[in-house]
Amino acid sequence: MTARLRLGLAGSSGRMGAHVRALAVESFSDTIEFVGGVSRATNVSELAPLCAQIDVLVDFSAAKQMSIIARACADGGCALVSGTTGLGEEEMQELSVASRLVPILHAANFSIGVHIVARALAEIAPLLKEKADIEILEKHHRSKADAPSGTALFLGGVIAYALGTSLQDSAVWPCLPYKDTPRAQDTIHFSSQRGGDVVGTHRIDFFCPEEVVTLEHQALDRRVFARGALQAALWIRARAPKMYTMEDVLS
Ligand SMILES: NC(=O)c1ccc[n+]([C@@H]2O[C@H](COP(=O)([O-])OP(=O)(O)OC[C@H]3O[C@@H](n4cnc5c(N)ncnc54)[C@H](OP(=O)(O)O)[C@@H]3O)[C@@H](O)[C@H]2O)c1
Repeated sequence: MTARLRLGLAGSSGRMGAHVRALAVESFSDTIEFVGGVSRATNVSELAPLCAQIDVLVDFSAAKQMSIIARACADGGCALVSGTTGLGEEEMQELSVASRLVPILHAANFSIGVHIVARALAEIAPLLKEKADIEILEKHHRSKADAPSGTALFLGGVIAYALGTSLQDSAVWPCLPYKDTPRAQDTIHFSSQRGGDVVGTHRIDFFCPEEVVTLEHQALDRRVFARGALQAALWIRARAPKMYTMEDVLS
């Protein structure tokens, strides 16, 4: 019989931290032992003792924590499953360096539904390429720190890749782009709304001359992300050091 996965948690005092902890204890106790959590570590040595005792650290914290978390996992020899969004090039580089020593999975969204939407977008986008104006609207709770959401960027990246371009070359960030100028072609426009306790909604519109094709995903409960992260933690346990994605888990 395989021993239970020893799990640690970064961002334990946060909304997602609370769900990961509760779900691990309530629904995954046959396969996962919850060892402990930290809310915000100020240096690597604060987190390292936990990392040395566990198989996988699940992280839902803040981009500013990424460097400490990646280094502590690499030093402690545990895998990392991170859902923290708002990461810049520097933080992604820290993850990449650590993935030479331990397996690492970063995903802006752990819900399976979002990844099904992503697959559909990769099919749809090239079919509508010539005529569609593409808009991505995301809505989140009032406390969300980053915009556009990591999921909106992920979905935009999937569309851009399917169209043979990159997000860097095609994205138009929230602004007032229509004053005195018409909407530019071959661009993907992003917009964000913040309010209340919206868990996360992503809507993608392909505005064509005589029709509109819309895909929308709504997360109704944060448990959907916590469940996906725990499934990813169980999956990554036996993997070699490398950067992985949710596509790897789902396929
Ligand atoms: N991938 C996904 O599926 C998914 C789903 C939902 C959310 N997320 C992302 O997960 C992260 C956490 O989301 P959440 O809703 O749980 O956030 P939250 O409620 O604000 O919790 C953030 C956690 O990180 C800690 N933290 C550490 N350093 C911090 C810093 N410099 N600034 C702020 N907080 C810091 C907080 O500690 P204190 O309590 O001490 O402040 C808290 O434990 C965000 O990046 C969010 O976008 C990802």
